[in-house]
Amino acid sequence: MGELARAVNIADLRRMARARLPAVVFDYLDGAAERETTLNDNEAAFTRWLFRPRYGVEISAPDLGVTVMGQKLAWPVLTAPIGYSALMHRHGERGTARAAHRAGIGSILSTISGARMEDVATTGVPLFMQIYLLAGREAGEATLARAKACGVKGLFLTIDTPVAGLRERDFRNGMNHLLGRNHFAKLRYLPDVLAHPGWVAAYFTGASMPSLPNVVVPGEGPLPMTDVAKTLQHSVVTWDDLKWIRESWKGPIAIKGVLTGEDARRAVDGGADAVVVSNHGGRQLDGVAAALDALPEVAAAVGTRCDVLMDGGLRRGGDIVKALALGARAVLLGRGHAYGLAAGGEKGVDRALAIFHADLVRTVKLLGCASVAQLDASFLQRRRETE
Ligand SMILES: Cc1cc2nc3c(=O)[nH]c(=O)nc-3n(C[C@H](O)[C@H](O)[C@H](O)COP(=O)(O)O)c2cc1C
Repeated sequence: MGELARAVNIADLRRMARARLPAVVFDYLDGAAERETTLNDNEAAFTRWLFRPRYGVEISAPDLGVTVMGQKLAWPVLTAPIGYSALMHRHGERGTARAAHRAGIGSILSTISGARMEDVATTGVPLFMQIYLLAGREAGEATLARAKACGVKGLFLTIDTPVAGLRERDFRNGMNHLLGRNHFAKLRYLPDVLAHPGWVAAYFTGASMPSLPNVVVPGEGPLPMTDVAKTLQHSVVTWDDLKWIRESWKGPIAIKGVLTGEDARRAVDGGADAVVVSNHGGRQLDGVAAALDALPEVAAAVGTRCDVLMDGGLRRGGDIVKALALGARAVLLGRGHAYGLAAGGEKGVDRALAIFHADLVRTVKLLGCASVAQLDASFLQRRRETE
């Protein structure tokens, strides 16, 4: 049995990713902002809910299908946008999209990706495009026109990056040099990189991503690559931007990074078709609510006016069930799929998704629930706090 097949859960894939990647890249993927309170709380929040099973029923083939922003998915999951995926494995975003397609789910491509959206779209996956406005409105409009032309199904506008969060691991590791132009400064990585020859070979065969092919500055060409913090410094999509984007994009739009009922209502009033309850995997404002804890407020605020999605901390298929029971129509998997990519490229993503899917099927059968559409809060109870 290969190493990937021996991975029984996402924590196993995370361990493999840690062994395969230089520390600077692993920390970029694994880490979060400041104390990493929100990162940890995102995962812990799932353990604060217990299942209330309905035994004595047999469910041979539970119905997991769902429609999200007009797209039919075989089960209620999309791969979340992960910037600089090519740093984790040369298969990058295309590998992720191919695996998502095989699994019957959707995939969201980050603005900060090394793969052209046109190439990712040829995988056949229901492809969505995540939008940061890195180079102003004109460049943004050009991105939307390309997205329309290549069949992108909808947009995810990320609103939680008015500045980059302080990701202390990246700061300490000097992550900015890895992506910067000063090759001399990269010498600091030599020992770490030499200890990971498989990764470095991939890095020099294309993973170094000299530019961002999905952000083309009119008259200049693709935006050159800089470090994460600098890139996110000018990236935010505002409510004002939603107005012009809503006018020029006729397909579905999701607002990603909603944590309160107020912002959720604002998104719907501005014409959004979906909101993603998300704290960016704890990478932006540390100390906000765990995404799962913010979900019921958002779901109650929008009711049936739009699709409610969520992400943050999902590491097991049972977590998907809890998110759906608390009001999400579907979830986005961030690190949950990216650890697989880092551990074994496209096949690693296959493995990660197979683990989530098997967990999901087993959990709904154990719960006695015939269809994900039937999941609601009656399948859960709050864990009683002990003294
Ligand atoms: C390495 C990494 C890069 C990310 N890049 C982006 C991005 O480019 N755009 C975006 O909207 N969110 C980005 N996110 C946030 C994810 O889309 C998602 O919200 C988050 O990972 C969910 O938390 P989880 O990793 O616990 O599943 C990134 C997350 C990680 C871990």
